Amino acid sequence: MSQLLEKIDKGHLPRHIAIIMDGNGRWAKEQGQDRLYGHFHGVESVRNIVEGCAELGIEYLTLYAFSTENWDRPEYEVVGLMELLVNTIRQEAETLHKNNIRLHVIGDMSMLPGYAKKELDEALEITKKNTGLNLVMALSYSGRWELLNAVKNIAHEVKQGRLQVEEIDQDVLQRFLTTSNFPDPELMIRTSGEYRISNFLLYQLAYAELYFTNVRWPDFRKENLYEAILDFQGRERRFGKTGEQVKKESVSQ
Ligand code: IPE
Ligand code: IPE
Ligand code: MG
Repeated sequence: MSQLLEKIDKGHLPRHIAIIMDGNGRWAKEQGQDRLYGHFHGVESVRNIVEGCAELGIEYLTLYAFSTENWDRPEYEVVGLMELLVNTIRQEAETLHKNNIRLHVIGDMSMLPGYAKKELDEALEITKKNTGLNLVMALSYSGRWELLNAVKNIAHEVKQGRLQVEEIDQDVLQRFLTTSNFPDPELMIRTSGEYRISNFLLYQLAYAELYFTNVRWPDFRKENLYEAILDFQGRERRFGKTGEQVKKESVSQ
């Protein structure tokens, strides 16, 4: 067994890990290849990390696969990414199902081409009763899109008289997010040496531990995931309190 894996405290795992899978294009360029070659190889990392999370018993894994802003990339890359997405989902849906993994999608599905939506709907249907890892694909997603949508929908409910302004609290707001059924991520990983959030889960990451690595996404494997989890387990999460308070609480628990 991997030495890193042995070091992980299985009683102190993040329930929800979110990953910004970045660096495919640069990985490909570094090898003198086209950017799509990088995306193609990134799929192998997705398989490996999904398997790693399922083996560990992580409950939720959210993968940022395509942002709202990524629609502005050159058309050939957008088309290539959509095709890769559809082919991958088609090939992997059965494997996900066999491994008791439930697929979810968050994002503006209205932007996706019809054939992609159809493939996704089928995979969602096939895996909907599974009780193992929840694999959340963020597709055509951005935090600002999500918050704007939530505000509009809340305003609509108020206008219809189904919700009072005074009733709007954090729980109500959460219900209007695309992640209403998931806990907030405790650990957010970004690959490829970029230190930013790029419009990912802006509300939900409020108290997430952030982990950045220079490894490009196509090179990211279970061992890298274990490293991130170990780093997470060494941190003190204070949520605004003092270190002393947190230590006292953990003793009394
Ligand atoms: C991440 O890799 C995948 C997507 C955004 C779809 P990039 O395509 O952003 O690769 P870099 O960051 O340009 O290297
Ligand atoms: C964020 O990566 C989106 C995904 C990984 C899907 P980008 O490569 O699009 O982000 P920026 O442009 O470097 O901030
Ligand atoms: Mg990038």
